[in-house]
Amino acid sequence: MTQTIQYRRIHIIFPVALASLLVLGAVRVALDSLKNNELHFLWQFNNVSGNRMRPRILPIVVSEDEIIPDGCNVFEGKWVWDNSSYPLYREESCPYLVKQVTCLKNGRPDSFYQNWRWQPNECKLPRFDALKLLEILRNKRLMFVGDSIQRGMFESMVCLVHSIRFQEFNASIEYYWAPFLVESISDHATNHTVLKRMVKLDSVAKHSKEWEGADILVFESYVWWMHKPQINATFGSPDNVREYNVTTAYKLAMETWANWIETRINPLKQKVFFATMSPTHLW
Ligand SMILES: *[C@@H]1O[C@H](CO)[C@@H](O)[C@H](O)[C@H]1NC(C)=O
Ligand SMILES: *[C@@H]1O[C@H](CO)[C@@H](O)[C@H](O)[C@H]1NC(C)=O
Ligand SMILES: *[C@@H]1O[C@H](CO)[C@@H](O)[C@H](O)[C@H]1NC(C)=O
Ligand SMILES: *[C@@H]1O[C@H](CO)[C@@H](O)[C@H](O)[C@H]1NC(C)=O
Ligand SMILES: *[C@@H]1O[C@H](CO)[C@@H](O)[C@H](O)[C@H]1NC(C)=O
Ligand SMILES: *[C@@H]1O[C@H](CO)[C@@H](O)[C@H](O)[C@H]1NC(C)=O
Repeated sequence: MTQTIQYRRIHIIFPVALASLLVLGAVRVALDSLKNNELHFLWQFNNVSGNRMRPRILPIVVSEDEIIPDGCNVFEGKWVWDNSSYPLYREESCPYLVKQVTCLKNGRPDSFYQNWRWQPNECKLPRFDALKLLEILRNKRLMFVGDSIQRGMFESMVCLVHSIRFQEFNASIEYYWAPFLVESISDHATNHTVLKRMVKLDSVAKHSKEWEGADILVFESYVWWMHKPQINATFGSPDNVREYNVTTAYKLAMETWANWIETRINPLKQKVFFATMSPTHLW
C-alpha cells in the first residue's frame, strides 16, 4: 500500500478435503436446492483480518450436464427475470459487501432487482459454480481493476465464492482501484477527490506494476470520464495541465493502457477483459 494507492487484498483460508471431487468435470455448489445426486461436504473457515468465523458446511452436488457449448457467443443475449434460481447469494449472508452496495440494509423496499439472470441467445449458461471457478483459478490470480463498478463486481464474485485465497486451491481474487486506469489524482481507493479531476494520460506504471503476473485481468473505466465534456489532464510534461475533450483524453489513456497490455501480457497464459459504458449509480 502506498499513499496514493490502496491495494486491496483480503486473505481467507479455505481448507478443503475434497481431492476426489476435484477431478470431476462439473461440480455444482448447491446452496439452496439439493438434488439426490452424490453429496459431498466442504468445510469452510473464513479468516478475514484474523477474525475467524464459525466453520460452515456447504453441500456439494455433482452434475455433469452443465457445460457451455463451444462457439456460443455468451456476450449477445438478454436479461431474464428468474426467481427460481436467483439470487445466487443473499446480501445478509455475505460479510464482504461495503455499505454502498447493501441496498436492502440501506432501506430499499423491494428485492426484485436481485433476480436478473443473463441469458445468451445461442445457449444456456450453466449455473454459477464456485468450486468449478476455483478449480479454474487454481494457482492463479483473478484481478478486477477499475472504479466502483469493478468494486461491485469484485465483491459480488467474493460473495459468490465466499472466500478469496484458498489453501487447497491457492486461488486469489483481487480488486485494484484505478478509476481512470491510468494515473490520476483520484487514485486512493477510499480518500479521493471526486469533483476535482486530473488525469495523467501517458502514465500507468504506478498501477500496472500491481497488475503484473495476474492470470485474469478484468478492466473497466467509464463513469469517471463522463463528468464533464472536458477534463484536466497531462500528456508528456507532468507540469502542463490542460483541458482535453473527454473523447480525446479517453482515447489517449486507452492507448497508454493498451500499450502496457501489448508489451506485458502473454496471451497464451493470461486473459484480459475490458468492460465499458457502465451506468451511473449514485442513487
Ligand atoms: C487467521 O489469521 C490470523 C492472523 O492473520 C492467523 O494468525 C491465523 O493463523 C489464521 N487462521 C487460520 C485458520 O488460518
Ligand atoms: C416467483 O414469482 C412468481 C410470480 O411473481 C410467484 O408466483 C412465485 O411464488 C415466485 N417464486 C419464488 C420461489 O419466489
Ligand atoms: C500459488 O499461486 C501463486 C499465484 O497466485 C503462484 O505464484 C504460486 O506459485 C502458487 N503456489 C503454489 C505452491 O503453487
Ligand atoms: C485524505 O486525503 C487528503 C489529501 O491528501 C488528506 O489531507 C486527508 O488527511 C486524507 N483524509 C484521510 C481520512 O485520510
Ligand atoms: C481545470 O482546472 C482549472 C483550474 O483548477 C479549473 O478552473 C477548470 O474548471 C478545470 N476544468 C475542468 C474541465 O474541470
Ligand atoms: C473539442 O470538442 C469540440 C466540440 O465537439 C470541438 O469543436 C473541438 O475542436 C474539440 N477540440 C479538440 C482539441 O479536439
